[in-house]
Amino acid sequence: MCGIVGYIGRRRALPILLGGIKNLEYRGYDSAGFAVVSRRGVESRKAVGRVARLEEKIGDPDRFPGTAGIIHSRWSTHGEVTEANAHPHADCRGRIWLAHNGIIENYKELKRALARTGHTFHSETDTEALAHLIEEFTIRTPGLAIEEAVRLALLSVRGTYGLVVLDRESPDKLVAARNFSPLLIGIGRGEYLVASDASAVLKHTKNVIYLDDGEMAVLTPREHTVWDLRRRPREKPLHEIEWTLEQAQKGGYSHFMLKEIFEQPEAIENALRGRLVPKDGHAQLGGLETVHERLAGAERLIIAACGTAYLAGRVGKYMLEACAGIPVEVDVASEFRYRAPVFRKGDVFLAISQSGETADTLAALREAREKGVPTFGIVNVVGSTIARETDAGIYQHAGPEIGVASTKAFTSQVAILALLALSLGRQRDLSLTQGQEFARDLARIPELMRRTLGVDDEVRRIAAACRDFKNFLFLGRKYNLPVALEGALKLKEVSYVHAEGYGAGEMKHGPIAMIDERFPSVCIAPRDSVYEKMVSNIEEIKARRGPVIAIATEGDQEMGAIADHTIFIPKAAEIFVPLLSVIPLQLFAYYFGVEHGHDVDRPRNLAKSVTVE
Ligand code: F6R
Repeated sequence: MCGIVGYIGRRRALPILLGGIKNLEYRGYDSAGFAVVSRRGVESRKAVGRVARLEEKIGDPDRFPGTAGIIHSRWSTHGEVTEANAHPHADCRGRIWLAHNGIIENYKELKRALARTGHTFHSETDTEALAHLIEEFTIRTPGLAIEEAVRLALLSVRGTYGLVVLDRESPDKLVAARNFSPLLIGIGRGEYLVASDASAVLKHTKNVIYLDDGEMAVLTPREHTVWDLRRRPREKPLHEIEWTLEQAQKGGYSHFMLKEIFEQPEAIENALRGRLVPKDGHAQLGGLETVHERLAGAERLIIAACGTAYLAGRVGKYMLEACAGIPVEVDVASEFRYRAPVFRKGDVFLAISQSGETADTLAALREAREKGVPTFGIVNVVGSTIARETDAGIYQHAGPEIGVASTKAFTSQVAILALLALSLGRQRDLSLTQGQEFARDLARIPELMRRTLGVDDEVRRIAAACRDFKNFLFLGRKYNLPVALEGALKLKEVSYVHAEGYGAGEMKHGPIAMIDERFPSVCIAPRDSVYEKMVSNIEEIKARRGPVIAIATEGDQEMGAIADHTIFIPKAAEIFVPLLSVIPLQLFAYYFGVEHGHDVDRPRNLAKSVTVE
């Protein structure tokens, strides 16, 4: 959830740390702090708010000469948003400094025990307990190497962590460790960076190694060593990051969210490239080779994911059932992991996650693996934990998604689920002709998305016209029911108004009671197999004086006449309409949030990557 960067080398650490942490602000941004070590000892500053507030406090970073340091941006889990609770946290003597992402579950016990031996605490955080615990080991064994003190402390800890430790007594070392919270090491020339996400190191190096759970690393300007917590050395492969720094920046748009909405045609092209084979009516999913046979014989597919990724899974269910005739269960991962799921022979498990780090999705995946179920993933972030822990997987190649509200990741996940439906369908009953038609229709989607994005101005006008409404109902049927849920989720996230997504067929069973002239409904009503039903629902709303914003197929004059506002999208095969119909809803949420002056890229209370339960 939080951002961590560490640097050790020959250059001044602070400017590098500040540059890196700014690229990570989307992961956590309620307070920030750094510590650097030099001959003058450790110098640290903290500030509540964005990194910019910390920079104001720092003034000229060149005043801090240290060539080793750590920085952190926080999204609070324990303790309020205060300077005292901001990281890095130090021990009693200001020797050991720690930036941490995750949760130390037994921190209360540890604090009580440490207080008995004379430690005093200055924050309400779980992290501070760990700084003092490391100190305790250095007190008990004078001369103990810092990495050994960290290792011993971690053996006493229950919980999750990605952390970096700075030691005043060993200014030429950084110690990093990981357990269920992402951490990577960027390898430069005569320097190393540690970070919770690759975008923090990209400016300096593209060569990284990813730490796995239970591993720790010791970095000096000259070398790195990785061990597990039992002191066994680990050989780590070197990876090259594909993303450029420019990709991770806004590229002229006012917000990442808008940029990412507009990147969707390209994201879908990337998802389909080299995979969709229209002439054979097939999809080649190389990443699934290792589970190919078990997938071909699968009797049921179980999808677990969270939030928007879960809703992509729900679109996928309709596609997979329609094309491949395979029963699909979709569950929110936070329920799946606790509801004692029943697995059967013939089950295959699919985790969907943009970040590849979502704690609940990862836990659901591990549950399935433990039960011997073959697993695979649809993941955007290469080298992320879910990507590494699944038996096989399909990368989204959607590029970095920085805006907290997920947009291009959703459509890219849906496109990959469509490829999966095609691939499994062709191994089952989908004929060559049907497969070819499916593939041709899917291949047209990026172009149709570009046309759909032409509604941008119209949606902005509608959002402005609706600015005073405080409640919205989003309605859809069949393929567009999950899209209605996604439209409501987006609006809640970035504009903080109440929005509910519902199956239009369920409206009579309750929600219709809310309808009046102050309660608008956003109705997804393309010309499809359930069009007539949607029209009836819209008439019912109009009869109760409810305002209607309709998403309709180009040329649908009937809809234009009934609805108060109509946003037209191009005609597409019914199964792929979600890839188009979601676009006006994303734009509506975006403009509604902007209209109300909200920071749509970093909505309050939300973080991009939810690595705690
Ligand atoms: C909504 C949103 C979240 C994520 C969810 C899962 O806009 O971004 O609901 O979709 O937290 O995240 P990933 O896909 O990273 O597992």
